[in-house]
Amino acid sequence: MKIVMVVGARPNYMKIAPVYFAIAKDSYFEPILVHTGQHYDNNMSHIFFEELGLPKPDKYLGVGSGNHGEQTAKVMIAFEKVLFDEKPDLVMVAGDVNSTAACAIDAVKLHIPVAHLEAGLRSFDRKMPEEINRIVTDVISDILLTPSLDGNRNLQKEGIHKEKIFFVGNAMIDSLKKYESIADDSPILEKLNLISKNYGLITLHRPRNVDIKNNFEKIISAFEYIDKELPLIYPIHPRALKQIQRFGLNNRFDQMKNFQLISPVGYLDFLKLQKNAKLVMTDSGGIQEETTVLGIPCLTIRENTERPITITQGTNVLVGLDTEKIISETEKILSGNWKHGKIPQYWDGKTAERVKNVFKTFFMN
Ligand code: UD1
Ligand code: UDP
Repeated sequence: MKIVMVVGARPNYMKIAPVYFAIAKDSYFEPILVHTGQHYDNNMSHIFFEELGLPKPDKYLGVGSGNHGEQTAKVMIAFEKVLFDEKPDLVMVAGDVNSTAACAIDAVKLHIPVAHLEAGLRSFDRKMPEEINRIVTDVISDILLTPSLDGNRNLQKEGIHKEKIFFVGNAMIDSLKKYESIADDSPILEKLNLISKNYGLITLHRPRNVDIKNNFEKIISAFEYIDKELPLIYPIHPRALKQIQRFGLNNRFDQMKNFQLISPVGYLDFLKLQKNAKLVMTDSGGIQEETTVLGIPCLTIRENTERPITITQGTNVLVGLDTEKIISETEKILSGNWKHGKIPQYWDGKTAERVKNVFKTFFMN
């Protein structure tokens, strides 16, 4: 059975890789890896192939950046050609980026079944582009692979038939479990002069946080306060860097004494940075999950999350875009007062095997 597996943007690689490997070693399947090129910088793309040991994509579509309509349309035009050439038995997409929805729409219109890895997550915030991508992808997929049972419940409430939904767990955690000990050897702490458990790690790239100057400034004000007590490190997403330059906010970062603004780092360096951090402040989806499994306190700088299990069971706390709340929750962590959490069901490193079994059953029936 020929399965086209799609990656497009940074978090996709860690999700698809374990499933790709599980499929590739089973002679029943033939995996075809397609990279849409939504992300294209070396440190947003190529480095992850090297570190995860993924082969060079069979097809690279090179669509690049653009507004939502433009980028989605470019992926659709290029990916449809891949489907005409390859005639796969199944297309697998992951997560909630524009490439995810675009490729799912192409496939379903050619009557090719679609599997969605990380189905069912909902922030219930339709102003987030990812929420639209999730809803669109889920409603047209044939196999919905959920990371947590809230996903099953959301899908059933939206009228999706129970028989299409499979609770398989979190594939991103398969990668974490596989690479965690390798990441321990990363020299990133020495390189950045950081002491384990004596720094805070930041990632921020959501449009609502970095594309609106006033919102970005509220968050920076919290960093300015925290920086006096704790060194902060921010591997900055290219979108956020562009906005800092556009809004003329460079000075505020330059003036913080202990603050390091660096380029995005590879997966192994980032795992090492997370594991040794005193706390993580983020608006990333995947990082809410990884900190939960690593047992590191996570402050999520958003009003909502599509990953509520990281709050109810994990180490995650929502702090909104509220300067005071970001500071007070940080103070709590610094004084040792934070919830330790537990690891959610099926976030156990075995999700890819469960996905493979779902696919086998699907084809054999
Ligand atoms: C995308 C996803 C988001 C995900 C994030 C992960 C959508 C709608 N959003 O957001 O869900 O959390 O990826 O990182 O799909 N850029 C570069 N180099 C690159 C890639 C991007 O410079 O390799 C810059 C470009 O200026 C581009 C901007 O970043 O316009 C935004 O990139 P885009 O892929 O549109 O969205 P992200 O913000 O990366
Ligand atoms: N990540 C990385 N380098 C970085 C920042 C993040 O390797 O500089 C990894 C992180 O460990 C996680 C994934 O990228 O596996 C999360 O991706 P991102 O935050 O871009 O996307 P989201 O999860 O928000 O969609």
